[in-house]
Amino acid sequence: MIKKVLVTIAAATFVFGGIASLSVAADMGPAEMTLETAGSAKPKPAFFPHKAHQDLLTCAECHHAMTDDGKQVAYVDGQEIGKCQSCHNEEKLAGKKSGKEKLDTFKGAAHANCLTCHKEVAQKDEAKKALKKCNTCHVKK
Ligand code: HEC
Ligand code: HEC
Ligand code: HEC
Ligand code: HEC
Repeated sequence: MIKKVLVTIAAATFVFGGIASLSVAADMGPAEMTLETAGSAKPKPAFFPHKAHQDLLTCAECHHAMTDDGKQVAYVDGQEIGKCQSCHNEEKLAGKKSGKEKLDTFKGAAHANCLTCHKEVAQKDEAKKALKKCNTCHVKK
């Protein structure tokens, strides 16, 4: 009896493990993208090599979810990934901040995430000091 239960658990773990890794592999998002603030009066698109960051960082470094009452939920594998602006807007996160960055705009949320890290890396590594420059992301045409 015990043996049968153990075999069932092992089989279940195998199946769920398989599904979890499949869903991650299937939903990596685009390899590269151009990020833009919807409805912006003064668009300033940002280039984002997504794949290069996935190779370097965990998904949780950038992705998370939210409870119904507006609290941040940490990323877990297989979590549904929403557009930053679907939460980082004036309706859902009015008045929220991270340091001096406003979390109720895409610009603020993106700078709190992207620019903060780029500044830290630039500070530590002389060879990477260009990372904090505006036109590293806001590429001039
Ligand atoms: C350095 C930050 C960063 C990391 C690390 C990262 N992502 Fe993303 N990801 C983004 C941004 C920014 C977007 C674009 C969101 C938007 O359009 O608002 C995105 C978009 C996506 C999308 C498309 C969502 C949609 O509906 O448009 C998927 C899927 C995704 N990421 C999966 C992943 C997975 C899986 C990992 C880890 C293996 C990961 N990402 C790691 C920043 C990141
Ligand atoms: C499902 C809703 C939701 C989505 C989608 C979302 N966020 Fe957030 N985010 C939140 C909430 C809620 C907080 C916490 C706000 C508070 O209470 O201060 C937060 C906080 C943050 C913070 C500050 C705290 C921290 O973790 O550093 C940053 C930076 C951030 N988000 C960036 C992003 C970026 C970049 C994206 C897109 C890749 C994104 N968020 C997508 C809901 C969301
Ligand atoms: C936790 C740290 C971290 C976060 C968050 C992050 N980056 Fe980066 N990013 C890096 C590092 C490190 C490199 C350099 C990789 C290398 O040189 O090998 C890089 C490289 C880049 C490059 C290429 C620069 C070049 O000249 O090759 C662009 C563009 C970029 N990031 C944009 C973004 C954007 C846009 C976001 C937010 C959506 C973002 N990054 C979030 C760490 C980060
Ligand atoms: C590491 C990448 C990165 C760096 C460096 C960066 N930004 Fe951004 N910035 C973004 C992202 C991502 C967004 C949100 C998407 C968009 O609107 O371009 C954004 C948004 C903006 C916006 C809002 C655009 C709009 O349409 O409302 C402005 C203005 C801006 N950034 C100015 C700057 C300036 C000035 C600097 C240099 C001090 C800078 N950014 C450095 C990634 C970056």
